[in-house]
Amino acid sequence: MSHDNLTAGKPAKPRVAVLFGGRSSEHAVSCVTAAGVLGAINKDKYEVIPIGIAKSGQWVLASADTAQWSLSSSSLPEVVPSAETVTLAEIGGEHQLIVAAPNEVPKELGTVDVVFPLLHGPFGEDGTIQGLLELSDTRYVGAGVLASAVGMDKHFMKVVFEAAGLQVGPYIAVTDRQWRKDPEAVRKQVDRLGFPVFVKPARAGSSMGISKVDSMEHLDSAIEEARRHDLKLVIEAGIAGREIECAVLEGRGTDAPRTSMPGEISVAGGGHEFYDFEAKYVEDNAAALSCPADMPEEAIARVRELAAAAFDAVGAEGLSRVDFFYTPEGELVINEINTMPGFTPKSMYPQMWAASGLSYPDLIDELIYLALNRRTGLR
Ligand SMILES: Nc1ncnc2c1ncn2[C@@H]1O[C@H](COP(=O)(O)OP(=O)(O)O)[C@@H](O)[C@H]1O
Ligand SMILES: [Mg+2]
Repeated sequence: MSHDNLTAGKPAKPRVAVLFGGRSSEHAVSCVTAAGVLGAINKDKYEVIPIGIAKSGQWVLASADTAQWSLSSSSLPEVVPSAETVTLAEIGGEHQLIVAAPNEVPKELGTVDVVFPLLHGPFGEDGTIQGLLELSDTRYVGAGVLASAVGMDKHFMKVVFEAAGLQVGPYIAVTDRQWRKDPEAVRKQVDRLGFPVFVKPARAGSSMGISKVDSMEHLDSAIEEARRHDLKLVIEAGIAGREIECAVLEGRGTDAPRTSMPGEISVAGGGHEFYDFEAKYVEDNAAALSCPADMPEEAIARVRELAAAAFDAVGAEGLSRVDFFYTPEGELVINEINTMPGFTPKSMYPQMWAASGLSYPDLIDELIYLALNRRTGLR
């Protein structure tokens, strides 16, 4: 921890850089998350430095005014580029924030003890930012490089889950080369999966680019839509089941990961075929979130056990939300792990912890504690 911001007799507060926005299509969602965290973080305990990442990738000093980052009916929040660029550099053995503008001497903005990357999707949740922070030995909240990358890629995620003995549904992965070289072979494989299928970009989020396809004649357009987000795709057999989620929080010290009470998402009453982008963020009452989910006790125990197993399978740290389909036969099929799940106060992850006795401000505090107390370098 740095000591240059010591005031007489008072120990320095840890300085937390909150990173949000980013280059992915979930830019606005990340800004909304930042509004939640900036509003709830304990400012008596931490000094907070909001840093926005514009869609171009530029880092800029951002406003701490939560209203600017909230969702309004008129427009989506966005980090706009600035003449001043912020970078993180190691200077004199300390992690310093530097702000630079053309034709000006760069200024130091002080040290950073921990970075809280509130970023979703590629170039944020996929190990790239994590790698940048690893290079400078900077502590940060959440999963490391490999876990982030595995959790971002719906193909490799399933490979790892299967190897750990978790049940995944039938699927195929389709690379750009496979689709361009022999689309008919892909169509044949999809036919074997059976309709409906879900066509997904391998690396996206917030349901972006995902279509439910009921017949072969709609397959190609769904593939082209997904390819606008990622040239690598995953196509999955549709699974009939309730959507059950569980929040996982790394244990302190050598403790096992902690799991919340499971929650359930239901879009049944909202006129959506599945939990799509509109149901997630745009329409107010399209999805019903309930926690704890109404399930038999033993199923709840199983969800929690599997969620912790999934967390360990990818080697996650800090936090993750693990999502399942709970079939009428009582099977729990894992859908995905999110290493930086939706994190506004209203999102499932904080809601599941709130229902399990951990409030949103305390959750933020615990995540920062875990990050401040972890080793840098290989762990
Ligand atoms: N194999 C599937 N069977 C049934 N529904 C699915 C399947 N895959 C996805 N869905 C629906 O689509 C939503 C988004 O898919 P998901 O893989 O979770 O993508 P994202 O990472 O964008 O959240 C799910 O919450 C669910 O409603
Ligand atoms: Mg999902």
